Amino acid sequence: MITKCLFPVAGYGTRFLPATKAMPKEMLPIVDKPLVQYGVEESVEAGLTEIGFVTGRGKRAIEDHFDTNYELEHQIQGSGKEILLDGIRELINKSTFSYTRQTAMNGLGHAILTGKSIIGDNAFGVVLADDLCFGEGSGVLAQMVKLYRQFRCSIVAIEEIPSSDTHKYGVIAGESMGDGLYHITDMVEKPTPEEAPSNLAIIGRYILTPDIFEILENTKPGKGGEVQITDALKIQAKNSRVLAYKFKGRRFDCGSISGFVAATNYCYQKFFAEESSDKVVPLTKSFK
Ligand code: UTP
Repeated sequence: MITKCLFPVAGYGTRFLPATKAMPKEMLPIVDKPLVQYGVEESVEAGLTEIGFVTGRGKRAIEDHFDTNYELEHQIQGSGKEILLDGIRELINKSTFSYTRQTAMNGLGHAILTGKSIIGDNAFGVVLADDLCFGEGSGVLAQMVKLYRQFRCSIVAIEEIPSSDTHKYGVIAGESMGDGLYHITDMVEKPTPEEAPSNLAIIGRYILTPDIFEILENTKPGKGGEVQITDALKIQAKNSRVLAYKFKGRRFDCGSISGFVAATNYCYQKFFAEESSDKVVPLTKSFK
């Protein structure tokens, strides 16, 4: 059983400055809901209700978001607006939230290693909230948990990208097992199009087995001077087995301005457009 999910949210979100000067990137709203709430909803839908955040300076708003605000609740009582808090209340009731701090921005691999004290000796999910995913049928993490039950190894979500974008991602080489699954044979972090072993890029959803922590402890800083999760996964793939899964659904890179705007338009069309402009319909109605 996997029950834990790690959210590394310590990054500075410099691409969104000045918006992220005093506010966490993960709290930027897609229409009316912060990015991180979409991620937590996806995690809870997958059965991962023990949520762990790896935070940093200036991320207090995330803790406050996943807590009850009695003053606000009292204020809006009887106003008809309580429904707008239903989704977040439900999440808070269904989940537990733990926090640990990454004291230096040494990369995603280092952030995940910082989460070891929350995760312990368990397989766990990782969600990068700035990758907003809408799964087909079920959420992307739920699709991956189902595969984990079958294969019992680390699994990364992948997507086909244009070769001009390889420098933004970890890119895999793998042998197809059918049904969108690949047995990973190699991985390169942010390669040039010439160096890239394929056009299959790792996106922000992972299931990791706990032996990744020992590997991360011994992983030296790689590309950009940061401890890269890709480098650790490459070793794990050699030691045992790591699968890549071409998920069913859509993903928006909300860490970039263009991806953020595309996600906003998509959500507005999908959840709001048919409603009249003065009728407030919470996106949370999409959360079961
Ligand atoms: P990004 O590099 O996309 O996020 O890291 P960033 O650094 O916040 O954004 P920019 O590039 O400055 O605009 C991917 C994810 O990994 C987390 C980030 O919070 C983000 O969710 N991360 C990255 C950490 O938690 N710690 C790190 O040291 C690095």
